[in-house]
Amino acid sequence: MIIGLALAKPGMGARPLVWFLMLHCVLVFPVKAFTEAADVTALQALLENWKSVLSTNWSGSDPCGSYWRGVYCSNGTVTRLDLGARGLAGPVPAAIGGLANLTILFLHQNNLNGTIPSEIGNLTSLSTLSLYMNGFTGQLPSSINRLSNLQQLSLNQNLLVGPLPELSNLTSLTRLYLQNNHITGSIPSSIGSIKYLQTLYLSDNLFSGPLPPSINNLSLLTTLYVDHNVLSGAIPDLSALKSLQYLWLQDNQFTGAIPSELGNLPSLQNLGMENNHFTGSLPDTINQLSSIPYLFLQNNRLSGPLPDLSGLINLQGLDLTNNSFVLGSVPTWLSKMQNLITLNLVNCGLTGDFPSWLTHSFPAMTTATFNLNQFNGTLDISNVNRNLTLLSLEDNKISGLHGTVPGFISVKLGGNPICKSVTFSQPDLCDLSSGYGPRTWRQDLSCSKLICQQGQSLSPENCTCMYPLVFNIILISTSFSTFNAPRIGGLESQLAGQLKITSDRVWVQSANFTSLNQTVADILVFPAQSGFWDDSEVSFIESQLRSGKSLTGYGQYRLQFLAPPQGNIRKTLSKVLPIVLGVTLSLVAILIASSIALLFWRRYRNKEFLLRYGVQQEFAKHSLQPMFFTYHDAKMITNDFSQSNKLGEGGFGEVFKGLLPDGTKVALKRLYASRSLQGTHEFINEVTIITGVLHRNLVKLIGCCIEETERILIYEFVEHNSLYHVLFGSSNGPILDWPCRYNIAIGTARGLAYLHDDCETRIIHRDIKASNILLDKNFQPKIADFGLARLFPDGASHVSTRVAGTFGYVAPEYGLYGQLTEKADVFSFGVVMLELVSGKKSVTFGADYVLLLEWAWQLYEENRLMELVDSTLKPTLKEEEAKRVIDVALLCTQAMATKRPTMPQVVAMLVGEREIRDVPNAPGVMSELMMGKSRSSSSVEAKPEASY
Ligand SMILES: *[C@@H]1O[C@H](CO)[C@@H](O)[C@H](O)[C@H]1NC(C)=O
Ligand SMILES: *[C@@H]1O[C@H](CO)[C@@H](O)[C@H](O)[C@H]1NC(C)=O
Ligand SMILES: *[C@@H]1O[C@H](CO)[C@@H](O)[C@H](O)[C@H]1NC(C)=O
Ligand SMILES: *[C@@H]1O[C@H](CO)[C@@H](O)[C@H](O)[C@H]1NC(C)=O
Ligand SMILES: *[C@@H]1O[C@H](CO)[C@@H](O)[C@H](O)[C@H]1NC(C)=O
Repeated sequence: MIIGLALAKPGMGARPLVWFLMLHCVLVFPVKAFTEAADVTALQALLENWKSVLSTNWSGSDPCGSYWRGVYCSNGTVTRLDLGARGLAGPVPAAIGGLANLTILFLHQNNLNGTIPSEIGNLTSLSTLSLYMNGFTGQLPSSINRLSNLQQLSLNQNLLVGPLPELSNLTSLTRLYLQNNHITGSIPSSIGSIKYLQTLYLSDNLFSGPLPPSINNLSLLTTLYVDHNVLSGAIPDLSALKSLQYLWLQDNQFTGAIPSELGNLPSLQNLGMENNHFTGSLPDTINQLSSIPYLFLQNNRLSGPLPDLSGLINLQGLDLTNNSFVLGSVPTWLSKMQNLITLNLVNCGLTGDFPSWLTHSFPAMTTATFNLNQFNGTLDISNVNRNLTLLSLEDNKISGLHGTVPGFISVKLGGNPICKSVTFSQPDLCDLSSGYGPRTWRQDLSCSKLICQQGQSLSPENCTCMYPLVFNIILISTSFSTFNAPRIGGLESQLAGQLKITSDRVWVQSANFTSLNQTVADILVFPAQSGFWDDSEVSFIESQLRSGKSLTGYGQYRLQFLAPPQGNIRKTLSKVLPIVLGVTLSLVAILIASSIALLFWRRYRNKEFLLRYGVQQEFAKHSLQPMFFTYHDAKMITNDFSQSNKLGEGGFGEVFKGLLPDGTKVALKRLYASRSLQGTHEFINEVTIITGVLHRNLVKLIGCCIEETERILIYEFVEHNSLYHVLFGSSNGPILDWPCRYNIAIGTARGLAYLHDDCETRIIHRDIKASNILLDKNFQPKIADFGLARLFPDGASHVSTRVAGTFGYVAPEYGLYGQLTEKADVFSFGVVMLELVSGKKSVTFGADYVLLLEWAWQLYEENRLMELVDSTLKPTLKEEEAKRVIDVALLCTQAMATKRPTMPQVVAMLVGEREIRDVPNAPGVMSELMMGKSRSSSSVEAKPEASY
């Protein structure tokens, strides 16, 4: 009492009365009204630091007595601080160490940076410390080892550097998440003394040296992820890890044999081994791992005969690419793997006739690649399975083709004798168009974990982030049919010679065969050591490229596109744009006359004109054309992107409201530029495709803006923001009754079915979630953001973006393995349906996050499914319809992609035209995914409250 009064500010005399009135609320408010002085001091320091976000919810002098959002007390002392995903930025003040009784500290998913204060070690009562998904830098303070009560430590997805401090004192720890940092040094042997450890994530760091043998002491371990590091040496004995379910070793430099004991681990369900230096033959015990879904062994040095693997009946992916196998013929036991979706047997020493059963024996198969083998004879494609979208047999000895290629499948035969035949009637099958992204032909830079800021890329010369000059050239007539490291290296040094710079400064980012004998190469040129470009050097490089000489061994080329470097330029680059677009003055004059009708702003600077001209030229190639806005237009209609016009922020960019001169409202999505460093022509191509996708349940794209690094999409304006907003937003918003929700379910399903099945270019959305389902003024659903994932090419920047998608919605096979089919959308759709019916979010962060899907399956197993339904729906609920939606949701969220229905089937089930099969067993839940883990070395996007 005395403490409380001493702290009370003047003018708070009425407070005792308030307390009196609130006495009946003891269940909601803490027992003791007045907070420990030390805690108040510490919280005031936090408030001071993060005033802009906390002050609206933290007012009054008594944190435990009044409602301070995210502050939880017990006996007048703060025991839990829940500030995850609150938009906090900057460093964490040392004063946090004053909250001596804290047991739970959540600061995850913010923009916190700087080092983790060593005072965190003062919080010796902590049992859970969540700092993941921030921008923390520096080393983990050694004081962390004082937290002997800690059970869960989540530091993943930061920028921490190594080495790790001693952690041997953390004897209560059961879960340790350190993935996606830049931690160096070896994995400390003392980790073996954290004896209760169940989950250990060390992936995506720079750990080196061997895996310590002491790991075998961790007998409770269920999950061990050490993938994507630079670990080396042989795999130690792990035979005591009887509980181990997940073991990921891939993308390291492990040597030696694959230990045969791995096959005897009784609980193992998931094993990753690709991209290492494993030698010897594959032990036949592997055949006992009947529940593993993937056997990826590509890019090792395995040899010898392949054991019979027909025991792996749940296998969805098999990849033996690039080992030293000489398999001869395709093993016949393969046909027993009826769940295979992906089969990659590139460079496996396969010979003889290509067995036609490979194309039709696997009902779910979508991708099959057999490049660089010795298959000969005639390829029979008269009977291929309907799901197959890619059959690649490049560089074999195929000399004939039987049957016509159906429209749904892409068959690749480049580099086969059949392509040399002048009478071959389908020469397009000979295009080597399977883009050779940088990862396939050259290792990433060892420094590639660095994340550069917008517009910058990592220079191979010295591993620093710099502003490159970006261009692409077309090699007009290439004499070769594949790209490999020497060819890329050769191209770099040829270009460097021509540009009179060192070849370290040239980086061929990707090279694609676009049509027979033509290659488009995307190239970055980095500035010299100083990091500065000057005008004359840029001009020189351009004039060299423009002159279009030929490159020895690569033939003639022409410059297709060039973007000047951003930032750090000593002089203005007034000359760049005219050269880029190659527009002569007379053309400009014609253009002024012809495009005058398009102008709704007074005057254009020369540069804008030229830009518009270039873009219009690109548009002219397509029949449906989006409207083109200049950046200047975009600024005008959004009032200079004012915060008051901001509608939200999503995985791809910020969204603003805009007003066209005729009064039409639009929504502008300003894409995060650094991730979309894609050539103008690809961008326009994708935008044009999206523009052509018209359906009443899809948000209409009206136009776009491209300027230097700016990429903006302009959409029709949709009245009611998103389903997320309406379901989970402010409590005084509109409440959706049952008929409305049912209608949203069906409309969303229809929109998605259209994307998957009916529109000209099949589009997989990849990020279906409540905040991407917008509601118009009549609450008709409209799906937003479709096609956007295609605008962000894989690996185009060094920020990993391979898996698009959001926490809680991502299908396991996509999130973990990047295996993308329409069924990934079906899964996410199922999750949205559960949200719609229950009115609960897919993930609730709290002391223990709750996964809606897990809860739903639990209710299902306990035969209490209808308890899922939002209780506010009672008055209008039609139970039969609700049950249908829930059943569909559970079908859609099956772990096994092949067991999920297609979207047209979903529509039929929802409207009652199709019977709903009995819901099968396994739920597709992968809690691990929630920690931002993914097989494809990327982080999962996570801004749950994003809209648009
Ligand atoms: C609160 O404090 C009282 C007296 O100081 C003690 O008896 C009680 O056990 C405490 N309660 C908790 C939950 O710590
Ligand atoms: C840390 O974040 C703050 C606020 O976002 C920013 O102003 C500051 O530059 C950042 N510091 C570093 C070192 O990145
Ligand atoms: C942390 O603990 C040390 C010694 O245990 C103490 O000197 C220091 O004041 C504490 N820091 C805070 C912020 O409480
Ligand atoms: C809170 O921590 C302080 C300092 O460690 C200790 O003296 C006090 O007893 C604790 N209070 C409670 C309620 O646990
Ligand atoms: C380990 O924990 C004990 C007890 O919690 C503590 O006394 C000791 O200082 C800790 N050791 C280190 C190295 O922090």
